[in-house]
Amino acid sequence: MSKPAPLIVLAGGSGFVGRHLAARLTAGGYRIRILTRDSARVRNLRVLPTLEILAHPAIYHPGLIAQAVSGAQILINLVGALHEGRGHDRQFEWTHVGITRNLLAAAAGSGIRHYIQVSALGTDAPQPTSRYLASKARAEALVQSSALDWALVRPSVIYGPDDDFLMRFVELLRFAPGVFPLTCPDSKFAPVDIDDVVKALLTLIDQPSQNRITYRLDGPETWTLRETVNAVANLIQAPRLIVGLPDWISWLMGALLERLPHPPFTLDNYRTLKAQEVLCSYGQVARTHGFEALGIVPHLFLNRASMYLRGSRPVGPGTEGVVAPGTTGLA
Ligand SMILES: NC(=O)c1ccc[n+]([C@@H]2O[C@H](COP(=O)([O-])OP(=O)(O)OC[C@H]3O[C@@H](n4cnc5c(N)ncnc54)[C@H](OP(=O)(O)O)[C@@H]3O)[C@@H](O)[C@H]2O)c1
Repeated sequence: MSKPAPLIVLAGGSGFVGRHLAARLTAGGYRIRILTRDSARVRNLRVLPTLEILAHPAIYHPGLIAQAVSGAQILINLVGALHEGRGHDRQFEWTHVGITRNLLAAAAGSGIRHYIQVSALGTDAPQPTSRYLASKARAEALVQSSALDWALVRPSVIYGPDDDFLMRFVELLRFAPGVFPLTCPDSKFAPVDIDDVVKALLTLIDQPSQNRITYRLDGPETWTLRETVNAVANLIQAPRLIVGLPDWISWLMGALLERLPHPPFTLDNYRTLKAQEVLCSYGQVARTHGFEALGIVPHLFLNRASMYLRGSRPVGPGTEGVVAPGTTGLA
């Protein structure tokens, strides 16, 4: 009788990265178990073969977590949030640190050796100024001090067909009446394709020898936020005058918008974006373990964004008029 395929638990597998990873893993014959607080979030994934969904509002609490990971060989933690909400279970401390602690304990208790955590760029800054990055850094420290065969990945902003990045700008640009005010326009980052992130995770799953290493996953080019929005505007043929807001207004926008029930931008997001600016400059030298170490050549942003945004254009398939990094102004 042939051995059953390994079972991989995806904590936070209902999200953007989880959905793409689950599709690739089930296609590769792995058995997948997605942990979620709400099964409605994974309704579309039910069609995948060899996929099991475990849903409970308190799935990461000590009473349930051991059962949730039992029988698995690999545990991947994709839980993360950019914003905090009301209540203990929606604070960064719980979302990033508390859940990581409980997952590590559950993995150790149920004999799982192989643990992968998706963190974020900026956690190695000497003193992370954003609460998001600081909590991600504390979670990383827990992983790195565990006795498991762990791997950490720190992606830059990830884009793809159903992301919360390109698609958010598409929506905002559509509503903007000619002029598009942009917070933190000069923040720099190296956008990374979802396919490349999934490839990196698949490599780490298949090659446990690559473990006890932290991988920086950033795209091959550095873009400012203004350049990125400009490119998106051109790709969807929604020309707008992009007006970069001064730093103090960006700060004020964060302070005001974070009072909304579902804030699009918060002061902590502002601090995270500012941290990315610093990162891009020292990131060039710190890129020791990354795609290269995993044998992956990451995609160029413009080609792939153009492909993902094809359905968002009013007419025509071309990328004419799209500006490369370094060009700003009227999109
Ligand atoms: N997307 C990016 O650009 C990017 C860049 C750098 C790093 N990352 C990191 O990569 C990981 C995956 O990102 P993603 O884009 O897939 O995120 P996502 O779409 O927001 O999904 C993350 C998942 O985390 C779970 N979650 C969020 N808050 C939670 C809480 N308080 N308690 C329990 N579960 C919670 C949610 O699952 P349920 O609601 O179903 O329970 C959600 O589906 C995250 O750790 C993120 O920080 C992402």
